[in-house]
Amino acid sequence: MEESNETLSVGIDLGTSRSSISASNGERHVIDSYVGWPVDLVARKLVKKSVLVGRDALDNRSMLELRRPLERGVIKEGSEKDEEAVQELLRHLISLIGIKQKGKNRPKVRAVVGVPAEAFRVSKQRLRRAMDGIADSVMLVSEPFAVAYGLEALLHTLIIDIGAGTADFCVMQGRYPTEQDQRTLPDAGDGIDEQLAKLLREHHPDAQFSIHMLREWKEKWSFVGEPSARVLVTVPAKGKATELDITNEMRAACESILPPVCETMIDLLTRVEPEFQEKVRNNVIISGGSSLIAGLPDALEKALLELGGGHVTVVKDPIFAGSDGGLAIARDATSSDWEKLSL
Ligand SMILES: Nc1ncnc2c1ncn2[C@@H]1O[C@H](COP(=O)(O)OP(=O)(O)OP(=O)(O)O)[C@@H](O)[C@H]1O
Ligand SMILES: [Mg+2]
Repeated sequence: MEESNETLSVGIDLGTSRSSISASNGERHVIDSYVGWPVDLVARKLVKKSVLVGRDALDNRSMLELRRPLERGVIKEGSEKDEEAVQELLRHLISLIGIKQKGKNRPKVRAVVGVPAEAFRVSKQRLRRAMDGIADSVMLVSEPFAVAYGLEALLHTLIIDIGAGTADFCVMQGRYPTEQDQRTLPDAGDGIDEQLAKLLREHHPDAQFSIHMLREWKEKWSFVGEPSARVLVTVPAKGKATELDITNEMRAACESILPPVCETMIDLLTRVEPEFQEKVRNNVIISGGSSLIAGLPDALEKALLELGGGHVTVVKDPIFAGSDGGLAIARDATSSDWEKLSL
C-alpha cells in the first residue's frame, strides 16, 4: 500500500542497435532497438499486436513497418513516427522491469538516460517528450559519462564508447565533464557494416547477402591487425551456395574506424593538463558492442606510442555498462543534482 510513495531508480542506455535498462529493483534487460507496426489487416491478424518491439519486431519484419528510430544515437530528425517508436522502446523497457504505465501503486520513476556525448542540444527536447508519462523525473547524461560513473573511473581516465551509430569519447577529470572533455564521431558499428557491404559488393558482385547476415559475420569474426584465421562464409551466388573468403574485407571494414578514433583519442589526450596526461593515457577504457572487435585495444595502444605509450582495457560488461552507470547516477543524485545535471 505504501508502494505509491516508493521511488524506483533506473538507468537507461538508449542505443542505436540495442537499448538496456538497469533498475534499483534488481531487474536488468536489453532489447534490440527496433519497433514495428503491422503493415495491413493480414499482418495485424497474424501478429495479433498493434506494435512489436525488440527481437519480436525484427523477427516479424516482413509483416511490419519496421523502425530503428535512433540514428547516430539521437531521435531521427523530423519524424513523428520515430518519436513514437522511441516512446514505444522506452515504454517496453519500463514494462520489462515490472512497472505498469498507470495505476495508483505505480512507484515514482527517476530515470537517467544515456545519450551520445554531443546529442544534448539537438535531441534533448525530443527525448524529454518521449519520456513524458514514462518517468517522473529524467536526467540526460552523455553515454560515456554514464559508463565512467558506473565503473567509478572518474579521475584521469578516458572512456571511449563505440556502439553502432557513434563512437563517444569522454575524459574524466574528477568532475562533471564539459563539452571540451567530450566528442562524438559517426564512425562505429553501422559504418563498419556499410563498409563491409560495399567491399563485398565490389569484390563479389554475384554474392547475395543482407545487412543482417553481414552484421552476424562481423559479430563473430571482426578483427583489426593481422588475421589469426581466415574468415570463410557461405552465401548464395546466383542462387548457388558458394564459400567466400572475406578475411581482407573484414579487416579493411573494421580498420576503417581506426584513423578517426585514434585521431580523436590523441587530440583529447593532448588537451589534458600536462602533468596528468600520462595517467590518462594509461587509463583508456573502451566500451560498447564495437569494443569487442578483436585486436582493437592493441591497435589503440599502438597509436598511443606516438605520445609515449599507454594502456587500453575493454570494459567487462559492455552490454550493461551504460545502464548500470545510469542507475548508479540515479541512486547517488540528490534532488538538486537532478536540476543541475539535466540539460
Ligand atoms: N563481437 C563483436 N564484434 C564487433 N562488433 C560487435 C560485436 N558485438 C556487437 N558488435 C557491434 O556493436 C554495435 C552495438 O553496440 P552497442 O550495443 O554498444 O551499440 P548501441 O548502444 O546500440 O549504439 P550507440 O551507442 O551508437 O547508439 C553493433 O554495430 C554491433 O554489430
Ligand atoms: Mg550505446
